Amino acid sequence: MGMTTVITSGKGGVGKSTVAVGLGRALAQRGRRVLLVDCDAGLRSLDRMTGTEEELVFDISDVVYGRCAPVQAIYPCPGSEGLFLLPAPASGDNMIRPAVMRRLAPLLRRYYDHVLFDSPAGVGAGFRSAACAAQRALIVCSPDPVCVRSAGSVRLLLERLGVSDMTLVINRFNDPLFTRTGVYSDLDGVIDASGIQLFGVAPEDQALAAAFCTGRPAPADSPAMMALSRMAARLEGEAVPMPERL
Ligand SMILES: Nc1ncnc2c1ncn2[C@@H]1O[C@H](COP(=O)(O)OP(=O)(O)O)[C@@H](O)[C@H]1O
Ligand SMILES: [Mg+2]
Repeated sequence: MGMTTVITSGKGGVGKSTVAVGLGRALAQRGRRVLLVDCDAGLRSLDRMTGTEEELVFDISDVVYGRCAPVQAIYPCPGSEGLFLLPAPASGDNMIRPAVMRRLAPLLRRYYDHVLFDSPAGVGAGFRSAACAAQRALIVCSPDPVCVRSAGSVRLLLERLGVSDMTLVINRFNDPLFTRTGVYSDLDGVIDASGIQLFGVAPEDQALAAAFCTGRPAPADSPAMMALSRMAARLEGEAVPMPERL
């Protein structure tokens, strides 16, 4: 049985989908079978970010309503052997209810080493659907106070959903900008303010953003991809230290 992980946050635009795709590509690079599940009904983005957009015929709602077999709605992602996508419905009306997701997840876990649920923004039904079936959560946050506060709120909501194993991913970290704002003197300040243990830090990285926007894998030596590869190793229980410089 594989491991289920939700990639979530209170706020939109902080990099949940970017972290999900990067972790998925990095885990596949380690030889794992990985399923990305796009839970953002109506605003799906993982098909574009994984280069599968043109292939899509079925999505997760077709599986749930019995219009196709699960395998027909799961697409291999070009550039990463072992990485697959189960896309979200194109319409928000077809959102998968949490109870249904809870029944689907154990089936998916049988066939993949990792199932990564990419959560939509906000803390509504879509968030609950994405989170309720996960064994652990990565809460993505940018290093600004508003986002850090929302990460703290998400922590409490996840606990109520029964997800107790959660850690923080700080994304789009930019050292000079971070210290210039003066709100936090160092990363420990962010961790203290959110009350969540740190899992990893991914730097601001235009090469990774540009690759993912067009559905390509990021260069292996791009700084954010290297950070996500370290996080993939940690997800599998390896003790990988944080580098001195990101
Ligand atoms: N580490 C990063 N460096 C540069 N740009 C990033 C990084 N992470 C995310 N982005 C950009 O931020 C925007 C929002 O990212 P996305 O993953 O779609 O966020 P979310 O899923 O939380 O809404 C995208 O344009 C993406 O390319
Ligand atoms: Mg997203």
